[in-house]
Amino acid sequence: MNTSIDFVLNGQPVSTRCRPDTTVLEWLRGDALLRGTKEGCAEGDCGACSVLLKQGMPSKQGARYQAANSCILLMGQIEGAALLTVEGLAQSAPDGHSIQQHMAENGSSQCGFCTPGIVTSLAGVLDQNGSPEESDIHDALAGNLCRCTGYRPIVEAAVSAAQSANNQLPEADADIGKDLVGVQEESVFHLPKTLAELLELKNKYPDAVLLAGGTDLSLDVAHARARWERVICTRDVEELQILQISDDKLIVGGAVSWQAALPHLETYWPSFATLVRRFGSTQIRSMGTLAGNLATASPIGDGAPSLIALNTNLTLASKTGKREVPLDEFFTYYRKCDLLAGEVIEAINIPLPKMDQEFRAYKISKRYDQDISTVCGTFSVTLENGLVSDARIAFGGMAATPVRCKQAEDAIVGLEINEITLTAAKAAIETSFKPMSDMRGTADYRLLVASNLVDRLFADLSGDVVEVMAL
Ligand SMILES: Cc1cc2nc3c(=O)[nH]c(=O)nc-3n(C[C@H](O)[C@H](O)[C@H](O)COP(=O)(O)OP(=O)(O)OC[C@H]3O[C@@H](n4cnc5c(N)ncnc54)[C@H](O)[C@@H]3O)c2cc1C
Ligand code: FES
Ligand code: FES
Repeated sequence: MNTSIDFVLNGQPVSTRCRPDTTVLEWLRGDALLRGTKEGCAEGDCGACSVLLKQGMPSKQGARYQAANSCILLMGQIEGAALLTVEGLAQSAPDGHSIQQHMAENGSSQCGFCTPGIVTSLAGVLDQNGSPEESDIHDALAGNLCRCTGYRPIVEAAVSAAQSANNQLPEADADIGKDLVGVQEESVFHLPKTLAELLELKNKYPDAVLLAGGTDLSLDVAHARARWERVICTRDVEELQILQISDDKLIVGGAVSWQAALPHLETYWPSFATLVRRFGSTQIRSMGTLAGNLATASPIGDGAPSLIALNTNLTLASKTGKREVPLDEFFTYYRKCDLLAGEVIEAINIPLPKMDQEFRAYKISKRYDQDISTVCGTFSVTLENGLVSDARIAFGGMAATPVRCKQAEDAIVGLEINEITLTAAKAAIETSFKPMSDMRGTADYRLLVASNLVDRLFADLSGDVVEVMAL
């Protein structure tokens, strides 16, 4: 027996029966014959497939549409949601959405292949923010590649669209959705609503795919044509949506996206927020979660170094109970972490900054936007009476896992920040790591960059530098 996937598409209710591990892009262009949404890279990089998504669970009530890459979004993930495509935008006003009009009038499109994705991303930012800064427009475009027109006329069109019209998108009735959709025995997609239901399913189906935003996992479907018999999706689990301050910690639930966490990171750790704004693109951050990033145990994942330096711990839950694990002990080997069978990351607990605690995160990558780190250096330093009373220093891209550099911490704790401690910390970094060489950078380059980040930190703390775009 098939269970339909029900959602709202361009304002109209839709009920469809298809494998829930079909990508939304494939469904739109194939079944729905809506071919305005394009396929470019099929891996979340180019934005040609951008759509606007509004999810319906209670914690997202009142939320606006978010841009997402439909090439790595699965049909199961839009159960109950509202989806808007470029065709829906064209119907949203008699002459199309104002961004479509301004793009056309301003000559902001040449071959036009990227244009549907670009107007979709821009309609998303204009819906969220009636008077965006130019930096908001650049942020919204970081995940949309245009090869022939160039971005100046595109940004100009967005600025004039923002000034000339009310760009709020029509409200749509996103709903919480069913807890199971799919083609039974072939492809089943569970959307449990409580942690107890999630853990029961994890226990019952140990081989099922555990999916959060899918910005890592679903590349297998988009690119390698993987087929999944059973998926358990964390999207609707109420306890995993928590995002609150409690006991001097920021608690981020195991299904909270980077985009949702960003305002809190901005409040407490502005430098971390600057790094997160360079994490993928708006489309990736609106779907990708902190828990998914940590569970991949990637040595160059951008979340782990900052969270290790901030002394984060994880709450892991399984059917048999809960345990707390410090994040600096969570990564066990290349791409391996201390998650037992049946366990999920329930929460990420980040201690709030103490008085006199300074935090800096530096991401070094080949491109400023939409690129993974070559090296990521993060530093939490507490100064009392001119002396370093506490330090936690962590790196990504320097070893098989994200790691803390205790030698560098020991080189500065109890001492003043001056030329001597700076040299000692740099020497400690140079002797602590044996990084690998790969297409992102050689071992020598990584060592040099990592130790130079100490110069950058000391200059930063002493007020000698202003924010540098390239870092
Ligand atoms: C174009 C593009 C750009 C990217 N840019 C960056 C970048 O700049 N920096 C960076 O670090 N990463 C980047 N990524 C990788 C990815 O977006 C992140 O790792 C993201 O945070 C993954 O989260 P997710 O929710 O999408 O995980 P998913 O893909 O859903 O899952 C990833 C893994 O986490 C597991 N998992 C998910 N939730 C839980 C949970 N609660 N408990 C236990 N296990 C869980 C899944 O089973 C799976 O093994 C990029 C990816 C793409 C496609
Ligand atoms: S096709 Fe390139 S991001 Fe989806
Ligand atoms: S108009 Fe041709 S790629 Fe943008």
